[in-house]
Amino acid sequence: MQRLPQPDAGITPEPIRPGIDVQINGEAFRHTGDPQMPLLWYLRDVLRLTGCKYACDRGECGACSVLLDGTLARACTLPMQELQGRSITTVEGLAQADGTLHPLQQAWIDEDAILCGYCQPGMLIAAADLLARKSDPSDDDIDGMKNLCRCGSHPRVRAAIRRAAAGMKGARK
Ligand code: FES
Ligand code: FES
Repeated sequence: MQRLPQPDAGITPEPIRPGIDVQINGEAFRHTGDPQMPLLWYLRDVLRLTGCKYACDRGECGACSVLLDGTLARACTLPMQELQGRSITTVEGLAQADGTLHPLQQAWIDEDAILCGYCQPGMLIAAADLLARKSDPSDDDIDGMKNLCRCGSHPRVRAAIRRAAAGMKGARK
């Protein structure tokens, strides 16, 4: 009988590492890498979901915004080890499966809110969080989103959120 090659003495097989199971945009994933990897890196470098942007890397600018179990969060400050069993929505998950845009995405187009675009995925996620909490937000509510934009898109973003809110209200009647 042929014998299988034996491993070199001194080599210890790596134990099976437990994974971190997360749902991202409705799909199940298991992360088996560094548990301290920030979610932002996992999204961009592992899953290639590049809508979530790398900017300040300290939870201040909002470019990396995601919804964590439906609530606004900053992916740059979230280590994977805190995400077992959690559900994440990125800007790629806002549209419906058939490609129908979220009302906010359509309003962004209608109001021409995108300038250079870098901050806009985070703006859209923050706006989705806002409309989930307040269906008819005031200007103060919108300005309270605290997402930075170097291009000065805030007036257009405000108009887009108002347009989307009005459309969603009409759809509920
Ligand atoms: S990159 Fe995460 S908040 Fe700025
Ligand atoms: S659109 Fe350029 S940073 Fe906001």
